[in-house]
Amino acid sequence: MLFPRHGLLGPSVVSLLLIGSVVADDARTRARDALHTLQGWYNPQSGIWDTCGWWDGASCMNTVADLAALDPSVMETARYVFSNTFNVGPVSNPHPGPEHKTVYTRDNQLSTPVNASLWLDQAYDDDGWWALAWIAAYDVTKEGTYLELAEGIFESLVNAWGTNCGGGGLPWNPTSRYVNSITNELFLSVAAHLANRVPDRKQYYVNWARKEWDWFTAQAFIGENGTINDGLLDNCQNNGATVWSYNQGVVLGGLVELNKAAPNDAYLPSANKIAKAAIETLADANNVIHEFCEPQCLPDGTQFKGIFIRNLRMLQEASPHDLYRKVISSCANSIWNNDRNEKGQFGINWAGPIVAVVDASTHSSALDALVAAVAVSGT
Ligand SMILES: *[C@@H]1O[C@H](CO)[C@@H](O)[C@H](O)[C@H]1NC(C)=O
Ligand SMILES: *[C@@H]1O[C@H](CO)[C@@H](O)[C@H](O)[C@H]1NC(C)=O
Repeated sequence: MLFPRHGLLGPSVVSLLLIGSVVADDARTRARDALHTLQGWYNPQSGIWDTCGWWDGASCMNTVADLAALDPSVMETARYVFSNTFNVGPVSNPHPGPEHKTVYTRDNQLSTPVNASLWLDQAYDDDGWWALAWIAAYDVTKEGTYLELAEGIFESLVNAWGTNCGGGGLPWNPTSRYVNSITNELFLSVAAHLANRVPDRKQYYVNWARKEWDWFTAQAFIGENGTINDGLLDNCQNNGATVWSYNQGVVLGGLVELNKAAPNDAYLPSANKIAKAAIETLADANNVIHEFCEPQCLPDGTQFKGIFIRNLRMLQEASPHDLYRKVISSCANSIWNNDRNEKGQFGINWAGPIVAVVDASTHSSALDALVAAVAVSGT
């Protein structure tokens, strides 16, 4: 049944005009319920969610922020998470990193200087996730410290610029030569987000975002059918490794933000091409997105699809396509109807039936789809 919460009204009573708002209310209630369930895993001592690792924790926090931006009634929960995680989160950092050589503070007048190095863990992609999460927290709170932290994290990534492939881009981590997609997509997205939020350094961030995108497109990350593979071989050729959903996602949000900061006729068409190729590869006949590792994804793989949908929603808002709206609402509806256990928790297979493992990572990833559905419902 499509509208169980409103079943008593009966379809004849619900005017066509009302249907849009009924769908929106329903989407909101579902997302709110699912946030409540997610908070059952939040650990005030660790600042992240039990059963969900370090960078996945950043992704969870991003989801909470995205919902708070759409639904003021969860703002209190979101503010609590941000401030608690800001204070205690670094205790969960698995490999406090040496990659940040100096403490970066943008404004020495601040009473609480931000030590970004506490958030670095010797994996540049993990650093990027935390930068995006703090930007999302800044967006809903306008708390300058969060933005400053993201800037500090980005500065440490700038220090890592320059690989053996064309002399640009970032390697995966300080001790590896592997040049992978996600690290570079994150660098693009963080730079582009900062360009739209730090007016006095806008050009600096635009320059880095452009530099990354120009380098990225000159490399072999994008495969023959337009999807993005995991990374490059030592000789800088495409390594043909798994087309993970998050690699089709982060780049979309990055290009949307870059196009906003420094419009260019090529950015959104590039994003649309990747999004369509990704949907062709990853969606089933009912427009529900899958990961190649299903149903037995390793812990990180359980997080990816939500990230794809989170970024597809950004593209939908900048460059609407009926296909994107359909994918987002189909995923959200399918999760709710087919991939939910009696505790209200969501699993990895959004098409259902729900299979183990069910944890904060599978749940928060699915919540991303519910949040995106709130954003696009009624459009
Ligand atoms: C910032 O954190 C790093 C890593 O824990 C530490 O080595 C450094 O002393 C800290 N700097 C400041 C100014 O607190
Ligand atoms: C596109 O190529 C990737 C391999 O790079 C493959 O996994 C995927 O299935 C292809 N998509 C389609 C629609 O054939």
